[in-house]
Amino acid sequence: MTTPTVKLNSGYDMPLVGFGLWKVNNDTCADQVYEAIKQGYRLFDGACDYGNETEAGQGVARAISEGIVKREELFIVSKLWNSFHDPERVEPIARKQLADWGVDYFDLYIVHFPIALKYVDPSVRYPPSWTSENGKLEFSNTPIQATWQAMEALVDAGLARSIGISNFSAQLVMDLLRYARVRPATLQIEHHPYLTQERLVEYAQKEGLVVTAYSSFGPLSFLELEVKNAVNSPPLFEHDLIKGIAEKHGRTPAQVLLRWATQRGIAVIPKSNNPTRLQQNLDVTGWNLEEGDIQKISELDRGLRFNDPLGYGLYVPIF
Ligand SMILES: NC(=O)c1ccc[n+]([C@@H]2O[C@H](COP(=O)([O-])OP(=O)(O)OC[C@H]3O[C@@H](n4cnc5c(N)ncnc54)[C@H](OP(=O)(O)O)[C@@H]3O)[C@@H](O)[C@H]2O)c1
Repeated sequence: MTTPTVKLNSGYDMPLVGFGLWKVNNDTCADQVYEAIKQGYRLFDGACDYGNETEAGQGVARAISEGIVKREELFIVSKLWNSFHDPERVEPIARKQLADWGVDYFDLYIVHFPIALKYVDPSVRYPPSWTSENGKLEFSNTPIQATWQAMEALVDAGLARSIGISNFSAQLVMDLLRYARVRPATLQIEHHPYLTQERLVEYAQKEGLVVTAYSSFGPLSFLELEVKNAVNSPPLFEHDLIKGIAEKHGRTPAQVLLRWATQRGIAVIPKSNNPTRLQQNLDVTGWNLEEGDIQKISELDRGLRFNDPLGYGLYVPIF
């Protein structure tokens, strides 16, 4: 199965559906990436913080060596972790991440959070995570503008074809667009029916940024992390509205949630450890929901954010 693409402001095409690699286990990651490529996935959403870029790269290498896919047919996404915002750290860490993946350019390299933390030497701790060994959050004074200029230099050097941002508010996007020489191609945000962020989505799309939704299934991904408001939220898959729409179309609730996004031009990157669900998640573009149903799903919005540093006990009140 192939997936449609969306044109980025950098001129490159990005698949509208990809495979998110957060919490994909190290011991299975290479096989899962390889299987996903066989199933038709072309976009892989990785990050330093997920701690599995080497394994993901092994899956890619196997698929390429077997002639299943060529590098240029893949769209590999990675992210700049918070500890590497100081401008002189950006290129070296991007090069390390490229080496981990075994590729010589990223299709898209994203600033993971608008939060600069103190540098951590990768030989000492990698991925660095949020806190130091003593459990403390240590910030860097680097402003986003300086980090963004270093991101732009990655494009100049051919190490990233497009660059993007994640977890940015509209105010931060607005500010960044004032000075960006290379505009961000995408904005990756938490987006599901309990957190629709309509104003932010509309603003980003108006400015020509493609919005990518993460955690499309809402609370589900956060149950294993015991995030309190996720544990206390009704599961979206069992919501009568979602179930009813799924039955009407002969689809699963997961597919309805993904189609609700893709039908509005929002890219999705669901994660699954299960081959059947992986296949299902890719089939979320060639059929349509009724506009009225899309509206009804959007009305489930409760401003419920699950991926909030505060929810993990980290005092970073960015949202
Ligand atoms: N930029 C950021 O700050 C940020 C933050 C969070 C996530 N992300 C990215 O977004 C990706 C997706 O978000 P996410 O990992 O939070 O979670 P998600 O894709 O919303 O949900 C994953 C959960 O849903 C289950 N699942 C997947 N497909 C299913 C299906 N068809 N039917 C039933 N259950 C299904 C998975 O279980 P099984 O594995 O057992 O199928 C897993 O428990 C991440 O992997 C990552 O790449 C980015």
